[in-house]
Amino acid sequence: MDRLAGKVAVVTGGARGIGLACVRRMAEEGARVAMADVHDADGRDRAAELRAQGLDVRYFHCDVAAEAEVAALMDGAAEAFGRIDVLVNNAGIAGANKPTHELTEAEWDRVQAVNVKGVFFCTKHAIPHLRDAGGGCIVNLSSIYGLVGAADSPPYHASKGAVRLMSKTDAMLYAADRIRVNSVHPGFVWTPMVEQHLRGMGGDLEQHRRETDALHPLGHMGEPDDIAWGVVYLASDEARFVTGAELVIDGGYTC
Ligand code: NAI
Repeated sequence: MDRLAGKVAVVTGGARGIGLACVRRMAEEGARVAMADVHDADGRDRAAELRAQGLDVRYFHCDVAAEAEVAALMDGAAEAFGRIDVLVNNAGIAGANKPTHELTEAEWDRVQAVNVKGVFFCTKHAIPHLRDAGGGCIVNLSSIYGLVGAADSPPYHASKGAVRLMSKTDAMLYAADRIRVNSVHPGFVWTPMVEQHLRGMGGDLEQHRRETDALHPLGHMGEPDDIAWGVVYLASDEARFVTGAELVIDGGYTC
């Protein structure tokens, strides 16, 4: 359980769902972890629970769409832990499930602000710290919907496609600094985001769950840990030759 021993990681959107699983699994593998989120009460409680289990996790407030808060997060994490080796750009929002011709500019912009600009701000302000550490890695949460389309949320799909190519561009830009950048593409994972999405469809939630399970050839949605194990791999030295890659963890959805 020391695949990330000695490393310091920052995980955005770490208070729940996939981000929380990443925080836990990375800390169990020996990383010291800065958990960042906007849900301060949840974040502080989850970080305290993990510390009570002997894991080195500290909570930081940060809205990834606010550049000053992102800069403060990276500086604060580096000051608290002495360095930053790994950034997991996990914070993201869904919603805006409307056809393109019905969307407002504000609905479009909100999704891009968190899902795209948030990745930009976090990467921008983590790079100097990763360079100071002599290299490191960035893991960006894209989606199966950064690979294939679906007839629901145009701004979400656009944002996840952007994250996919931001990852490849940054992989090339920072390879000389020994900074690896990869994207992860989950299928449906049962988290508060997906529960909210299915409830928003109205009708029978269990029926929607069964239909969503059936979209995956393996017959079910993923769990947050299924994604966290992939993130642990990419963050570890086992992936030292992996950059610009797309790790698809989707139960076969995109086969
Ligand atoms: P979630 O909604 O359950 O959790 C997201 C976390 O991000 C929450 O703690 C939330 O407070 C935080 N967050 C939201 N906006 C933020 C902001 N502006 N600044 C900082 N934190 C913020 O979402 P889930 O399902 O865990 O998703 C995590 C990532 O994985 C997202 O980027 C999502 O798009 C992606 N993803 C999720 C899939 C799924 O089926 N759950 C599938 C494919 C991708």
